[in-house]
Amino acid sequence: MLAIRPVRPEDAPAVLALLHAAHAWNLANGFNFTAADITAEDLAPRLTPAHFFVAEQAGKLVGTIEVKPEKQGPDWGFHLLAVDPETKGGGVGRALVAFAEDLGRRMGAPRLILDTPETHPWLPAFYARLGYEPFRTDQWAGKRYRSVLMAKRL
Ligand SMILES: CC(C)(COP(=O)(O)OP(=O)(O)OC[C@H]1O[C@@H](n2cnc3c(N)ncnc32)[C@H](O)[C@@H]1OP(=O)(O)O)[C@@H](O)C(=O)NCCC(=O)NCCS
Repeated sequence: MLAIRPVRPEDAPAVLALLHAAHAWNLANGFNFTAADITAEDLAPRLTPAHFFVAEQAGKLVGTIEVKPEKQGPDWGFHLLAVDPETKGGGVGRALVAFAEDLGRRMGAPRLILDTPETHPWLPAFYARLGYEPFRTDQWAGKRYRSVLMAKRL
């Protein structure tokens, strides 16, 4: 059974390992997501129970997502979505996105936003199948890819 719950302090090492493992393919293929080589120090302030959630299956941490208000405006966004490579393809990613949408809706956010590489071979299409529409592209400092920002009305 899959359970999604707020992060706990003792999850920190497993969350860090999961982010690095999940993003190994991305990093090797030029998609240098922040999560791919984030340090424990940079991750620590983001591990707050109000905004960071983990998916657990059979007692094992198998997925992560951060859900929080955007820097400006009423929309919320999700970040640091990752699933353990051994668990990939089993619906955990979709369940985490659905969880983020429920939380955003409960918090009164009009839209949920995400940021993903415009030229990634399958992520933009995956999000489009979940109802997200592109509304802007951006080139962030230090990133070897251009981002597409996508939104879903909640
Ligand atoms: C993105 C990610 C979280 C999805 O988690 P998941 O548990 O595998 O997701 P699900 O099983 O719910 O769904 C996977 C979807 O991705 C698609 N997918 C996965 N790997 C794929 C691949 N190599 N090629 C094409 N499509 C792929 C599947 O077809 C499926 O879509 P569908 O159900 O509409 O057919 C996971 O793959 C991951 O951690 N990737 C590395 C980190 C990352 O890129 N995070 C996203 C940052 S924006």
